[in-house]
Amino acid sequence: MAAHDLTLTDKAALTSGLGQMTTKAIEHAGIPSITMSDGPHGLRLQRPDREPGQLDLSPAAPATCYPPAVALGSSWDIELAHRVGAALAVEAAAHGIGVLLGPGINIKRSPLCGRNFEYFSEDPTHSAEFGGALVRGLQEHGTGATLKHYAANNQETDRMRVSADIDERPLREIYLRAFERVIRRARPWAVMCAYNGVNGVTLSENTRLLTDILRTEWGFDGLVMSDWGAVRDRVAALRAGLDLEMPPTGGRTDREVVAAVTAGELDEAVLDQAVERLVHFAHLAARPAGDGSTAPYDEHHRLAGEVADNCVVLLRNEGPLLPLDPASGSVAVIGELARTPRFQGGGSSQVTPTRVDVPLDHIRELATGARVDFEPGYPLADGPEPDADPVGAADRAVRLAAASDTVVLFLGLAQQDESEGFDRDHIDLPAEQLALLERILAVNSRVAVVLSNGGVVRTAPWHERVPALVEGWLLGQAGGGALARVLFGAVNPSGKLAETIPLRLEDSPSFLTFPGAEGHVRYGEGVFVGYRGYDAARREVAFAFGHGLSYTTFAYRDLTVAPTADDTGFAARVTIANTGDRAGREVVQVYSSAPAGSTVERPIRELRGFASVRLEPGESREVLVEFDRADLAYYSVRTDGWQVEGGTYRIEAAASSRDIRLSADLAVTADDAGAELSVHSTLGEWLAHPVGGPLLLERLARASSDLTSRLAEDPMLQRAAHNVPLEVVADFAGGLIGRDELAVLAERVAQAAG
Ligand code: BGC
Repeated sequence: MAAHDLTLTDKAALTSGLGQMTTKAIEHAGIPSITMSDGPHGLRLQRPDREPGQLDLSPAAPATCYPPAVALGSSWDIELAHRVGAALAVEAAAHGIGVLLGPGINIKRSPLCGRNFEYFSEDPTHSAEFGGALVRGLQEHGTGATLKHYAANNQETDRMRVSADIDERPLREIYLRAFERVIRRARPWAVMCAYNGVNGVTLSENTRLLTDILRTEWGFDGLVMSDWGAVRDRVAALRAGLDLEMPPTGGRTDREVVAAVTAGELDEAVLDQAVERLVHFAHLAARPAGDGSTAPYDEHHRLAGEVADNCVVLLRNEGPLLPLDPASGSVAVIGELARTPRFQGGGSSQVTPTRVDVPLDHIRELATGARVDFEPGYPLADGPEPDADPVGAADRAVRLAAASDTVVLFLGLAQQDESEGFDRDHIDLPAEQLALLERILAVNSRVAVVLSNGGVVRTAPWHERVPALVEGWLLGQAGGGALARVLFGAVNPSGKLAETIPLRLEDSPSFLTFPGAEGHVRYGEGVFVGYRGYDAARREVAFAFGHGLSYTTFAYRDLTVAPTADDTGFAARVTIANTGDRAGREVVQVYSSAPAGSTVERPIRELRGFASVRLEPGESREVLVEFDRADLAYYSVRTDGWQVEGGTYRIEAAASSRDIRLSADLAVTADDAGAELSVHSTLGEWLAHPVGGPLLLERLARASSDLTSRLAEDPMLQRAAHNVPLEVVADFAGGLIGRDELAVLAERVAQAAG
């Protein structure tokens, strides 16, 4: 059925939802309704037909809660992410759900963003790899993915109105890059537009982002839906390229669309196009109803546990204190979070788990001979009532710590501390937890701290006095088992940080401009987001992007970098050896550094790819990381396009962004002869130009050997003249070369560039 066979009223109605999570059917036209569900790390199974505005406070039906993106991203294992996507698709199909509202791939611009637990990383390559793996896993198994929140939804403060004011380079290189990659490579069925605006234009009405870039440049041919309540002007949104408004508005905006078409204010062809996309989407995603009973929940719980095993990041292990011996000694497990785990964040992604593994239970289960005692130490709002004990829980915890060989202290953020809908205003752990830590350290130095948090928490300065520090993030419903396995060495930790842990919030590159005011947030740090910023400012950090320890050790050797067979990119090969005494997994990161003398400011290093390798003790294996030549490009505001600069790039094989193990030079030729030259270009630009430089030098030498030799010999003159437009240089030199002649030179350069 083509759009023009439907009435105008039907068409307008089709481009907004039916209920909170459903689209409308038009039975006589054979257009089915579809059901969507929130994700991204599990299904949020609310009553999908519930009317918007009808508040459903009943918890969602049970579904497997996998590690949220913050943890999954720390696995650096996209194969696992692919399997999670596939398992989500199976559960979705069992419930009659055709589309998942995820993954979310926004960049963690500030540690304060309340939704950081739902996002993967501060780096676009990392985010794109994970986003792509989830999209493929979902869609290969029949469930559509919705890439969100497009774009630059990097804060919750004023999220429904704020304009993210971003220069073109950071917009392209940081905030759009992951979206571009996932759209081009994994082809999600849908994109969800963000609430916020970019550079003054709200996303749902942003023609440049929704049409010019998304569809025309990147070739996206799927459906664009709004975030829930992101549409301010439905007619303008349709014109800009938004196909589906969610949730519906009780018919109000449908009527506005009809009126606009009738009055000739909205071209009906625009509506037809949205309808055609919606109809295609509905046919792709319609599923028979299901009650979920066919889903293999036990198998999925095991998968959630296996994934969690790979997400835990061992930040520090002096001694080494870990792993603990399960067969002997006494372990004091302290902290309510060990008994009342936090395993996901709040908001639209909150899943009702099918079951929850409690760390304390699993620690007890794994301790074959070691004695395990527990004290809550501090209360949690969603934990049990604190004991009405005159000694006080913290005192009892300190006593237990003093009487035990080792302390495992669970610290972290409570449910109410971080959620969708608001940002945090600091990154400290709760004061009472820090006070407890101090008291425990005073009586026992063998302390392993286990953290549960969705957004980064400050670990300085106390981490230096704690021999072992385990970042458990929010690990999903099976995370309790994973933590116990890591503590006792049944699992060798292998996760690495996908975001920097700063020494202080004030050090973070976005500190001065987050979250903005009066409707605007200026992304003043430009491309220097996350490690790009800490590195450029040469700031010490608590734990660097990419950092994570293991109970074994790895050696790196024989790094080579060569063009790929099809010559579209480069292949970095490095051999990794397990030099310790237990099996383990190493995440190998490949960074590139731009050649010296780059036209624009480039970060010191940028992640280009990564791979993970599992090795038995003594085993070694070659690891391959490929990246595209285009990945080396910066976005030029002058040419309004990507530009690969020629020169020698440094390619690094690294265990973290601050643990570079090997590096190799890579000679790269520029995309073309370089930027166009004119009489207005500076002397520096002329001299740096591969064609223009020699031409000009030759002409200058003919005009005045005196000037050329002074230029060659006088570094101060060179520096001063560097920034002077050529026409002015020529004038300063007494009309040495006429303007006409300069124009001819520029013309010759243009001809040489073809
Ligand atoms: C969130 C989206 C979510 C949607 C539907 C919005 O508030 O930003 O991520 O998919 O609600 O629940």
